[in-house]
Amino acid sequence: MLQISFSTQTQSTVGALAILVPEGDARSAAFQALDQATHGALSRAAKAEGFKGKDGTSCVVLAPSDSFERIVLIGLGKTEDVDAWAAEKAGGLAASLLGRAPRAALVVGDLSGVLAAHAALGAVLGAYHFGLYQTEDKDDKKRVLAELSVLGAHVAAAEELWPSLLAVARGVVLTRDLVSEPANVLNPVEFAERATTLRAHGLDVEVLDRAAMAELGFGALLGVAQGSANEPRTVVMRWNGGKEGDAPVAFIGKGVTFDSGGISIKPAAGMEDMKWDMAGAATVTGLMASLALRKAPVNAVGVVGLVENMVSGTAQRPGDVVRSASGQTIEVLNTDAEGRLVLADVLWYARDRFAPRLMVDLATLTGAIIVGLGHEYAGLFSNDDALAVGLADAGAFTGEKLWRMPMSKEYDALLKSDIADMQNISGGRAGGSITAAQFLKRFVDETPWAHLDIAGVAWASKAKNGQPKGATGFGVRLLDRFVRNGFEQG
Ligand code: BES
Ligand code: MN
Ligand code: ZN
Repeated sequence: MLQISFSTQTQSTVGALAILVPEGDARSAAFQALDQATHGALSRAAKAEGFKGKDGTSCVVLAPSDSFERIVLIGLGKTEDVDAWAAEKAGGLAASLLGRAPRAALVVGDLSGVLAAHAALGAVLGAYHFGLYQTEDKDDKKRVLAELSVLGAHVAAAEELWPSLLAVARGVVLTRDLVSEPANVLNPVEFAERATTLRAHGLDVEVLDRAAMAELGFGALLGVAQGSANEPRTVVMRWNGGKEGDAPVAFIGKGVTFDSGGISIKPAAGMEDMKWDMAGAATVTGLMASLALRKAPVNAVGVVGLVENMVSGTAQRPGDVVRSASGQTIEVLNTDAEGRLVLADVLWYARDRFAPRLMVDLATLTGAIIVGLGHEYAGLFSNDDALAVGLADAGAFTGEKLWRMPMSKEYDALLKSDIADMQNISGGRAGGSITAAQFLKRFVDETPWAHLDIAGVAWASKAKNGQPKGATGFGVRLLDRFVRNGFEQG
């Protein structure tokens, strides 16, 4: 992970540098000093490129003088619009354009300490690369951005905030690493194994195997798992940073380490994407790591259901009826609607065992949410208005945006089964994300609950907002902020 340090130093001692430039004609003292040091190369390049400091724009100036191999101008947008999210985007863009200099500087000038720290968070996440399986030659490997000094006026304030943002960055990186792993490596057993390493940070981690889940009556989850040669797991992660006895906030994740669709098999094109059908579980895991790393004063529990949805002689058949942990029976008309079956049991279990003050589940649940919302917003479904507002606000703050979708009992008729308490799909394609949410609602009772359908946002097919393509880690920053805003003591 990119190493960050903050300093008031105005002259950079490294050859690669990025500078944040607010929109408008006035240039900061930091810009002017650099421009002078490069004999006007920066202002000439900005003019030639038509660079005006607009949000999301940049201008790369190669070898502007003997002492600099590159200087990157990063547009920050209008000063009055610069918030934490804008600073993160700018920091991310800077990291992605600094090239492969091992050490570089980011000049933030008189940006507030809080925003400087957020720019650093963006840079750490913008520099992320999942390189585990690339066997580069050794010299080449050394040339990655490893250290970034953030140069600005408000070092003390930036340094004060930084440890807690670093904790969040480490959580996001963990989530991205889990999501990026191929399914032959990251099966349910391996996922659970990695979760247990979080004990080192003070998390209490329990792993339930097939027998333990059978004992608890997890017929819905185990039905999905029965076609796979890989054993299923449920992992319970607990962080007790709050008052003893206070009901926890609970986060639940869908962890399908590969979704072939089962007997209702998916088409070949794009099936490789289904290695990231465990993104909900990965986000819960990254979030729990973040809370522990920053010693959040809150009681929180994360529960993830881990299975592989495969095709085989032992696989579940369309038409099978399973009994969930809640006692409700489900007719499985489509084995590809497996996420809701997994969540049915873990949601019920979390509610039953921990009596949480609220539950939020995350799942790459439906293709339909991508049709509805594309890749900008995740779908938010909730039985509680205050909870929905709290989540949407945290989403707006962090740039991990949520759009609330309707829930209503009229949709329930679509899930009516002829032979069981419900069926796992509705008859048609209409409102597919809503019927999925209505299904989940049957397993949460009266607990304030929200469901985030992250199918459209967990993976980016191209780099965006200063973040690399691939796993986004969507939800870690959002839920960390949600917890900070509403549920921490003191
Ligand atoms: N994991 C998929 C949903 C998905 C699709 C996530 C595309 C990310 C990208 C889920 O298990 C699934 O297969 N859902 C079905 C439900 C249908 C059978 C009712 C879908 O969306 O087609
Ligand atoms: Mn599926
Ligand atoms: Zn799935």
